[in-house]
Amino acid sequence: MADDDILRFENVSLHFDGDEAPALNSVSFQLKASDTIVLYGAAGSGKTVLLKLALGLLRAGSGRIFLFGHDVTNLREEEWFEMRARTGVLFQEGGLFDSMTIEENVSYPLINQKNVAIPSEEVHRRVEEVLHFVGLPQTLEKFPSELSGGMRRRVGIARATVTEPRLVLYDSPTAGLDPITANRIVALLIKERELRNTASMIVTHRFQDGHMLATFRYNPQTEKVLEVPPAQRMHLRTRFFVMQEGRLVFEGTEDELAASTDPYVSKFNMQRA
Ligand SMILES: Nc1ncnc2c1ncn2[C@@H]1O[C@H](COP(=O)(O)OP(=O)(O)O)[C@@H](O)[C@H]1O
Ligand SMILES: [Mg+2]
Repeated sequence: MADDDILRFENVSLHFDGDEAPALNSVSFQLKASDTIVLYGAAGSGKTVLLKLALGLLRAGSGRIFLFGHDVTNLREEEWFEMRARTGVLFQEGGLFDSMTIEENVSYPLINQKNVAIPSEEVHRRVEEVLHFVGLPQTLEKFPSELSGGMRRRVGIARATVTEPRLVLYDSPTAGLDPITANRIVALLIKERELRNTASMIVTHRFQDGHMLATFRYNPQTEKVLEVPPAQRMHLRTRFFVMQEGRLVFEGTEDELAASTDPYVSKFNMQRA
């Protein structure tokens, strides 16, 4: 079903001028509704470049990219505005505006959607709702500097999901957080994908993040995440990608990753690390 087709790369390459090797080298994959991709790879292997290509912030040198079933490879900048509004993103740096309140930060993607004017009461209602979703209902008037690192990351997730996108890209959402806060962030991503059927790609260096995404689901009754038995894990639709020097060298389930004998790929296997 075409409606199910969220993101597709076909032999996508990108070689920056002056760089010795391509940043992305003939990468192909397909992401469908409710899929979760855990994206592993050494620093400089092309993870952020891959996400930026999916957002139209970089252009492919060759190959084709399809977003929500549309060929976006040669989309003009004006057309990208509308496409980007349909994708949520949390960048590596977090990227909140320091001079804006939390409410202003989170409402930003709603207000700046092209072709859609949302009444201000509706914006306020949706910002309150999404801040409640991430567990920060009392922060509307605060500034980012008044919140902890983990809280700021949760505001970033609220901002990434306020437009209820069908695809959310998270670049290192747990980087620099203590393990407890990091687990709380991953639990939030699990809740988001579960309640909204969002497709997501998550860049991380923490094995625990990938393991949780592959084995935990959200329970709306208890409002907690819980581990599911091995036989049911395929319903979580979580796959692992491993990038090496611009190439996608592994794609598979957590078990397949654990079984890999490739010396580079098995560096990302929790059991062996
Ligand atoms: N704007 C750019 N100009 C030139 N080279 C870049 C640019 N962005 C990324 N690169 C190069 O592309 C490669 C992949 O980078 P990146 O995707 O940021 O890695 P990571 O996997 O750590 O996110 C690196 O070699 C990096 O130096
Ligand atoms: Mg990066």
